[in-house]
Amino acid sequence: MATPVLDKVEAESAASPYITVTFRVRRFNPEVSAEATWEDFQLEIDPKERVLDGLHKIKWELDGTLTFRRSCAHGICGSDAMRINGRNRLACKTLIKDINPEKPITIEPIKGLTVLKDLVVDMEPFFQAYRDVMPFLVTTGNEPTRERLQSPEDRERFDDTTKCILCAACTSSCPVFWNDGQYFGPAAIVNAHRFIFDSRDEAGEQRLEILNDKDGVWRCRTTFNCTDACPRGIEVTKAIQEVKRALITRRF
Ligand code: SF4
Ligand code: F3S
Ligand code: FES
Repeated sequence: MATPVLDKVEAESAASPYITVTFRVRRFNPEVSAEATWEDFQLEIDPKERVLDGLHKIKWELDGTLTFRRSCAHGICGSDAMRINGRNRLACKTLIKDINPEKPITIEPIKGLTVLKDLVVDMEPFFQAYRDVMPFLVTTGNEPTRERLQSPEDRERFDDTTKCILCAACTSSCPVFWNDGQYFGPAAIVNAHRFIFDSRDEAGEQRLEILNDKDGVWRCRTTFNCTDACPRGIEVTKAIQEVKRALITRRF
């Protein structure tokens, strides 16, 4: 006959939010093998937790060698973009319950950049393209004695592209970038857009010329993968179109 204590334990276990989930992770360690392999990890986890929590559980409880980047854990720093079930997402913004935890959840590094270890890729080519478009305000000869004023309408012009957190989810989802990695990529263009359309900036022409390059905006084939991948909801393809139009009309 069940005791009140056993009844309580059973009731608590029936109410447990935990489920068993398989994380299928792409592993690569160049010191061990030149080939990447898949490895499965079984986790007891609350489906309301995030993929990043699952990765932490693996690293802290099952395999300390699992390597991935993350910092803020709240969708701000942009460091944990990865391919989750074949789609670029931030691990810290992806709830397990939203990606069908009944099947193994595949986790891979983002594409188009060299994998250094497990989920960590070499971001240098990505940041080089970002630096190349001069992602800073350029003004000459008018040192302000107070803040530089701007109308709300002028500020609105580039509001969307100020939201970029440089996570690379867009660039690494672009088939043109996968092709040879030479294309500047949507993230660099988004960050050029942010300054080209800023009424206080004076280097718009220069940035447009940089993006008029053979590896610049004209390589975009309007595939929209970048817009779909952006965790900040930036209309990336629209921004690219606006830069193309500015190159043709020279009005911005
Ligand atoms: Fe990430 Fe979006 Fe910026 Fe691309 S545009 S780097 S997806 S935040
Ligand atoms: Fe690539 Fe986005 Fe253009 S995915 S092709 S940059 S619309
Ligand atoms: Fe910072 Fe996910 S850890 S955005």
